[in-house]
Amino acid sequence: MKFFLDTANLADIRWATQAGLIDGITTNPTTLAKFAGDVDPQDVLKEICSLVDGPVSAEVVAVDAAGMYTEGRELAHLADNIVVKIPMLEEGMTAVRRLVADGIKVNVTLAFSSVQCLIAAKAGATYVSPFLGRLDDVGHDSMDVIRETRTIFDNYGYETEILAASIRHPRHVAEAAMLGADVATMPTEVLKKLLLHPLTDRGLDQFLNDWSKLAARSKVGA
Ligand code: G3P
Repeated sequence: MKFFLDTANLADIRWATQAGLIDGITTNPTTLAKFAGDVDPQDVLKEICSLVDGPVSAEVVAVDAAGMYTEGRELAHLADNIVVKIPMLEEGMTAVRRLVADGIKVNVTLAFSSVQCLIAAKAGATYVSPFLGRLDDVGHDSMDVIRETRTIFDNYGYETEILAASIRHPRHVAEAAMLGADVATMPTEVLKKLLLHPLTDRGLDQFLNDWSKLAARSKVGA
């Protein structure tokens, strides 16, 4: 499973890249609004693309097919590793087909059902992003979407990657991975939590403690 960081925070992106923990980035208008400050969002996206050796999703804000296509082409020109994020709308699927025909990679976002994911795959998207946390928030079991989409894509041989998004905690990552999602995109807090377990810390303390006792004994015996 590939891990993407779901942020436009450059410091976090530098950290995760240097730690070798991530394979790409996803951004959206909300994360850019949060982290771009006074900087032009396109400059932030260019900087992110230069930091990461992997795909960087950048989202259009137009909602009509022609506008999404024009904006998508502009975003694609920012860097070779841009993936254009298009919302799961009827007009969006027209834009996806046109961008794909131009050789531009697309991530269909705001997907909440397996049939929406199927439509994105039929349109030729490279990625489709079901939003797990937001589904759970309204009382659904988000993993149903991953399970059904995996089966549908495998049934028909679609190569569109299932990009589990709106991830809120490590269990989302584990369950999406068990069900065969290709990618998980997550905020920095969740990525950091994946590394941690209290028993790891406790076990290491014990090992180091025992080792110092052994070292002290050997010195006495020497
Ligand atoms: O990038 C889209 C998605 O990951 C948003 O997550 O937490 O705002 O539902 P969230």
